Amino acid sequence: MDAFTVLVITSLITLYLIWFSSIKRPLKGPRVWPLVGSLPGLIQNRNRMHEWIAENLRACGGTYQTCICAVPFLARKQGLVTVTCDPKNLEHILKGRFDNYPKGPTWQAVFHDLLGEGIFNSDGNTWLFQRKTAALEFTTRTLRQAMGRWVNRAIKNRFCPILKAAQLEGKPVDLQDLLLRLTFDNICGLAFGRDPETLTPGLPENSFATAFDQATEASLQRFILPEFIWRFRKWLGLGMEVTLRKSVSHVDDYLTNIINTRKLELSNQQQSVVHDDLLSRFMKKKESYSDKFLQQVALNFILAGRDTSSVALSWFFWLVSNNPRVEEKILLKFAPF
Ligand code: HEM
Repeated sequence: MDAFTVLVITSLITLYLIWFSSIKRPLKGPRVWPLVGSLPGLIQNRNRMHEWIAENLRACGGTYQTCICAVPFLARKQGLVTVTCDPKNLEHILKGRFDNYPKGPTWQAVFHDLLGEGIFNSDGNTWLFQRKTAALEFTTRTLRQAMGRWVNRAIKNRFCPILKAAQLEGKPVDLQDLLLRLTFDNICGLAFGRDPETLTPGLPENSFATAFDQATEASLQRFILPEFIWRFRKWLGLGMEVTLRKSVSHVDDYLTNIINTRKLELSNQQQSVVHDDLLSRFMKKKESYSDKFLQQVALNFILAGRDTSSVALSWFFWLVSNNPRVEEKILLKFAPF
């Protein structure tokens, strides 16, 4: 290697290190390494992700910024991530200045095949229109009553009997799985009035739930790759892109079938059957929405209400089981003896 090459390499490394320390200086979170950012910590803690993030948040007073890719140009565009659990920040992001935090083109491109331009994948006017329509529906007493009915029925007739049977047989249950099935059944009932009954003894596989999971996972995998690579894989039909295409098509067929059946029912004026689910409410409005739009409404609501509620419930039971004093208080207040 001649002296000039050595000089160029040394200058480049020095420049990189100056740039790296300027990026690193304001970051408060976990240790950031040259090139790979905080990735080593992430990989090291992959089996205790929640605990690791909670420790970082605690150490930084509730908010930190980290860099998952310390490469010039890429870092500013994709690498800097802010993590927060500060209620003030959450209120600001989710309520006060929600419009300041759009999903943006990267997010929208990744989820477009699955969520289209639904509320979870749109900004600006498309989002505002759906937000207003959904907000209007959510304030109605009948929708709340419908939600209560779906939840109560599933808990009383299916969730509790499954727990009781397991208790009598002395068998453990996978509570996370049961709760995911429970919230999936409920949200399908609420969104389009059809309970897929995934929470029944024997815990059957449900092709719609499986396709929905696969499509979500395959969409999330796109985040790992630069956009041009996953687009190229989609074009060639490679790897997870095939799974995504097949599962989205399954979800589409399932929802098309539901929409067509509901159209028939509503046009036949089957008054004996009252449809108070979200889909029927949108279909009964003066404005006529396209089937694609109706499909996206239902799908986005399933995504919104399923994993969020089941994860919150799983955490709730985990916390209660770790705090016997709280469990005792709940039992004293609500147990029927
Ligand atoms: C414990 C349960 C839940 C949690 C933790 C939760 C959390 C959230 C969060 C953080 C967002 C904001 C997402 C964003 O930045 O765009 C959101 C939005 C939303 N959630 Fe929930 N959610 C829960 C349950 C539900 C349920 C049961 C439904 C419907 C039945 C629902 C419907 C929605 C909708 C429609 C939006 C989009 C609002 C918008 O973009 O304007 N959520 N939820």
